[in-house]
Amino acid sequence: MSQLQTIQKAVNYINKKTKNFKPDLAIITGSGLANAIPPLEKKITIPYVDIPGFLHSTVQGHTGNLIFGIYKGVKIAVMQGRFHYYEGHSIKDISIAIRVLKFLGTETLLLSAAVGSLDKNLPPGSMLILKDHINFMGTNPLIGNWDPAFGPMFKDMTCAYDEKLQNILVKIAKKHKIKHKKGVYFAVSGPCFETPAEIRAYRKLGADVVGMSVVPETIVARQLDLKVAGIALVSNLASGMSGVALSHKETLDVMKQSEDKFAKLLKDFIVAVK
Ligand code: HPA
Repeated sequence: MSQLQTIQKAVNYINKKTKNFKPDLAIITGSGLANAIPPLEKKITIPYVDIPGFLHSTVQGHTGNLIFGIYKGVKIAVMQGRFHYYEGHSIKDISIAIRVLKFLGTETLLLSAAVGSLDKNLPPGSMLILKDHINFMGTNPLIGNWDPAFGPMFKDMTCAYDEKLQNILVKIAKKHKIKHKKGVYFAVSGPCFETPAEIRAYRKLGADVVGMSVVPETIVARQLDLKVAGIALVSNLASGMSGVALSHKETLDVMKQSEDKFAKLLKDFIVAVK
């Protein structure tokens, strides 16, 4: 079966369950942020495991549900838990969920993720609004997988993150007094954290934060011409910057503390996007 056929099967299954719910906005929640979703009217939860052709989340702190519902008149779809290259998924397959969201009818995608910060002035609890990214994963989700239904193979990436959406996020961050800046997300494959030497090198290359997700999703979404916004919530200063060893537990603990902040921001963002 081609990937397009797999996607169409998943889309048909979801459309049957939701009676053709067409989201205005799709959101992917990062590590520890799954419960930041506002209360939704007409909520429908579909576990990933029930969707034919969908991948399954295998990471602690990532649940696996596709949620649909309405918040203040805005129809949203939420991926509660994402798929990472480091889980052993093929980089091609990470594109399935994004393409499914597009074929369900969404035009806009908000990505959120926990990250390590390379900037001492962007400490844990603060937020980077993505202006651009550097793909250092050593692979690309568009390799060997092309179908005209997905968009152009040689997609322009000049404006990967929508400027209007970036400015909306800045406004909301200011309103809620969340420490933030715009900047560059540096994507690595993981799953181990970086060495201090790697972090020094990445800083020289222009990184503001480092993380193990977001970028494959952005690339696939942009090929489909979705408008993309990205929020990186800092869980830790990157390797070698704080003198303490990094751990996934720390990421989840700090994200738990940031969940409230993210929930407030999300509510305002959903309303602003409509
Ligand atoms: N590095 C990579 N990914 C991360 C980090 C980090 O320090 N913190 C949270 N995700």
